[in-house]
Amino acid sequence: MAFTVAIDGPAAAGKGTISKALAAHFGFAYLDTGLLYRAVGAKGGDPLAAARALTPEDLAADGLRTPEVAQAASRVAAIPAVRAALVAFQKEFARREGGAVLDGRDIGTVICPEAEVKIYVTASAEVRAERRWKELSEKGISQAFEEVLAEVKERDARDMGRADAPLRPAEDAVMLDTSDLSIEAAVAAAVDAVEAKR
Ligand code: DC
Repeated sequence: MAFTVAIDGPAAAGKGTISKALAAHFGFAYLDTGLLYRAVGAKGGDPLAAARALTPEDLAADGLRTPEVAQAASRVAAIPAVRAALVAFQKEFARREGGAVLDGRDIGTVICPEAEVKIYVTASAEVRAERRWKELSEKGISQAFEEVLAEVKERDARDMGRADAPLRPAEDAVMLDTSDLSIEAAVAAAVDAVEAKR
């Protein structure tokens, strides 16, 4: 049976952590759709050709988590033809047998408006920048906090302001603000939201 959990929200709100925990808890497959855009952005050259030629191996490439690739991903994601080239793969993944969790920006609004559960995960820009800054430091990437905050805000503005599939909560999404929540509490709230629809 298909059962889709759509997780949307801005960068570093906790979508990935929550999505992975949900997938493990319920035995669902997980797709980080940001990786599709990151892989296209990282390839350089013509983004539409890159999107059309994308393979699952591209999603496992090294270096997709850098700040530069995040900005490149956000830029190519504003091109409607690039988004269109990535729709079918995501839709199929969403409706696969056995359940699926997808996280991104437009899963509940465009890719899978029929998702059984939609959760919009958010947090203040400052909290998100601090999490991202710590994550980067742990990977040995040193960047000033102010710069990380500026990049988070720049990406928010582009992802929310684009004409095609802008980031916004679906009307029927459960809102989950993780600014003041531990990871455990955020995951527990998401598990409750899924349980309520099962
Ligand atoms: O979730 P992420 O930070 O890995 O996403 C990188 C960029 O990709 C993000 O800034 C916007 C774009 N993106 C998108 O437009 N739609 C999605 N479903 C996922 C990501």
